[in-house]
Parts: sequence; structure tokens; C-alpha cells
Amino acid sequence: MAKLALKGGPKAITQPLGKPLYAEWPEVGQPEKDALMAVLESRRWWRGGYGEKDLDKCWVVKFENAFAAYHDAKHAVACTNGTQAIELALKAVGVKPGDEVIVPCSTFVATALACLMVNAIPIIVDVEPDHWQIDPDAVEAAITRRTAGIIPVHNGGYPADLDRINEIAKKHGLFVVEDCAHAHGSQWRGKGCGTWGSFGTFSLQMGKTLTCGEGGIVLTNDEELAAKAYAYHHIGRFAGRPFYEHHITASNLRMTEWQGAISYCQTQRLPEQTDRREKNAKYFEDGLRTIPGVAPFERDPRVTRWGFYYYLFKFKSEAFDSLPRAKFVEAMAAEGCSLGAGHMHPIQDNPLFTNRNFGPVCYPRGVKPPDYTKTKTPVAQRALETEALSLGHSVFADHDTRSMDLILGAIRKVRENVKELK
Ligand SMILES: Cc1ncc(COP(=O)(O)O)c(C=O)c1O
Repeated sequence: MAKLALKGGPKAITQPLGKPLYAEWPEVGQPEKDALMAVLESRRWWRGGYGEKDLDKCWVVKFENAFAAYHDAKHAVACTNGTQAIELALKAVGVKPGDEVIVPCSTFVATALACLMVNAIPIIVDVEPDHWQIDPDAVEAAITRRTAGIIPVHNGGYPADLDRINEIAKKHGLFVVEDCAHAHGSQWRGKGCGTWGSFGTFSLQMGKTLTCGEGGIVLTNDEELAAKAYAYHHIGRFAGRPFYEHHITASNLRMTEWQGAISYCQTQRLPEQTDRREKNAKYFEDGLRTIPGVAPFERDPRVTRWGFYYYLFKFKSEAFDSLPRAKFVEAMAAEGCSLGAGHMHPIQDNPLFTNRNFGPVCYPRGVKPPDYTKTKTPVAQRALETEALSLGHSVFADHDTRSMDLILGAIRKVRENVKELK
């Protein structure tokens, strides 16, 4: 009789793992309810409802301060979403039409879209093979006289090599904007991701590890850049100047007090949640090391905290009786554990890039985006096809190791009965 569920045997996992998305995630309680009622009754539903004197009562400001403190940043500007957070940062650092901005292929398309939205040209490069983060050598090779900056994305929240990226940026006079949409709470050498470049940008969209449904925030340690980001998110207003005095071309990207209230309460929960997930991840890693054919990342000692949106790990077909990755994923799904590959699918394969459907973006005369069908990213492609595995953060939300044991048990079961899949 077959042992594996894919072949008609019993499922290894018959109960929900972690806190399933959209069911028990996000974690909410009395603080969120009280905060929302307080906003309702205050009748001040936007940040403009507060003056200089009572700014400390504004929920958006409270959120900005708390989020900045947890990430070791001096300044924060909350905004509408993670895509516009990147746009905001790019505007504030002074990106000009036709500037080239280097981004990794393994990310959500928003990283590159934000460049197009400010009339810059995203130059898409490969990731390195160890942790699937933007490859510093590929960045260096892609630099031209038009390059203005680099957007490292902490893919799955695992920090990109910020030392090398900053070194390259310094050498070539480029800005760095960290896309931290996956990296709430992640740390590089003991300091929050989002504070290593000119800006760090975060998404607070529903699936993220800190959410208010839709939202974003930028962090910076530079006072002047913070003032620019504030103006760019507030119809060109400068803080402390008359309300109807507008200084620069800018949109309205303000966060509402509803979102501010929820985000503030969620920020109070974030440190404990991040530690809980990390603890479960480390237990999971110890388990993975005992099973031939799967492996955790070899953690770089400079990664002092991995606050992951999805947890990435590796499949090693050669040690799994040459089973293809896709077959392993299928077998695990049948056992009751759905595995993904994070955002490993190279973004340049989207019709947006293959057809260069860029709409009314404008570049200076003679400047043209590259032919993205020629952009080759073999490391990402290989990882996607053969090696990359991911688990959503909610699976790591338990207060005990129940889900970790169930997943490890299912992997072990597939490994021990791999012959059934041949
Ligand atoms: C890497 C990355 N950057 C940017 C974004 C955009 O964030 P939002 O959906 O809040 O606009 C996302 C969203 O998932 C993302 O994964």
C-alpha cells in the first residue's frame, strides 16, 4: 500500500499550519479596537487634523516614531502603500527622467514599476546563488554613465549584502534605496534594514508581517531627505509652513488615521512576533539539517535578525534521489503543506517588460529602455526551477513548534518514501 498522500496514502498533515492567512492573521485585540474607536470619536481622521502642539496624539505620527525606533531610524514618513513608498524615496533622492536604477530580478514587480513611475529606467540584474539576493558583481557590471542608484530588495526579508552594495554605491556616486517590503524587523550587523541607504521603504499590505490592509512607510537617517519625503507625500507642503503654501510638484500619498492607529498597534506587536518567527525558523533549520535533500540558508553572521515575509530554503535534488523540485512540491502539497518559491520568478518575463508596455513614461530624447527579452538571469532561473522553496510567515506564528514538527515530519515522510514517486 502506498505511504505517500500523492499516491493514495494518508496525509501527513491534517490540521491547519500556523495562523492561516486571512483567518487568524493579522493578530488583533483590544488595543486595535480601542485605537479605532478613539480615531472615530476624535473626528480627526487624517494627520492634518493635528497641529504642532498636539502632534504627539496623531496616530500616524505615533506609528512613524515607533516604527522608526524599532528599525534604528531617525525619521519616517508613512504613506499609502509600498509601491508609492519606493516612488517617494526615488523622488526625494532626486531621480531624473532617463536615469538608470539597478534592481534585482527576484522581487515583486513593484520595485521596477516604481522606477518607471518616476520616468527612470529599471535595469534588472541577477541574484547571487547563496541567498538569492541582488548580486553585487552583477550590479557593478550593469553600471553605466546613466546609472543613478541601486534598489537592493531583501528578498524574503533576508538582507542583501549591504556592505558590498554601499561600497559600490560610494565608489560610483550612486544612491541606495532598500526595498524592505519583506523585511520588517530584519537587521544587518545589529542595525535595522531600511537604515543602510538613503531610504528604506516598506509595504504594509495585507499579507505583510506588519499590515494595516494597505499602507507603506519610508525610513531615513537624513533630515533633509526626510523633509523632502514629507513634502512629496503631502502635495508639496513643507512642515511648519502655511497650509496653502506649496513648494514642489507632488501628489497626495498621506496615510489616514485609521491606518495609523492599526499600524501603531501592530508595531507594538512586531518585536515579539518577529522573535517568535525567528525562534521557530531556527528550530526548523535544525530539523532541515537532519534531512538529506533539503537545507536552510547558511546564515551570514552579519544577518543579526531575519524578519521574514516568506522563509526561503533549499531543495537539493541530487541528495533527494534526483527527484525534481516540482515533484517534491506536489508531494508536499498532497501531504498538506503548500510550498512556494517566493518571488523567484524573474520579473523581466512579465509582458510589461517583454513588450515594453510602459505607457506615457517619458525619457529624454535618445534615451530608450533596454530590450528586456535579452536580460538573462540564470541564477534566479535555476533556483526557481530546481532549488527554491518558501513558506509563508504565518506558518511560523505558533507559540510552540507544532507547525514546524508537522512540516518536518511531512518532508521526512516524502524523503523516506521517495521511491514511490519514481
Ligand atoms: C518587494 C516588494 N516591493 C514592493 C511591494 C509593493 O508593496 P504594495 O503592495 O504595498 O504596494 C511589494 C508588495 O508585495 C513587494 O513584495
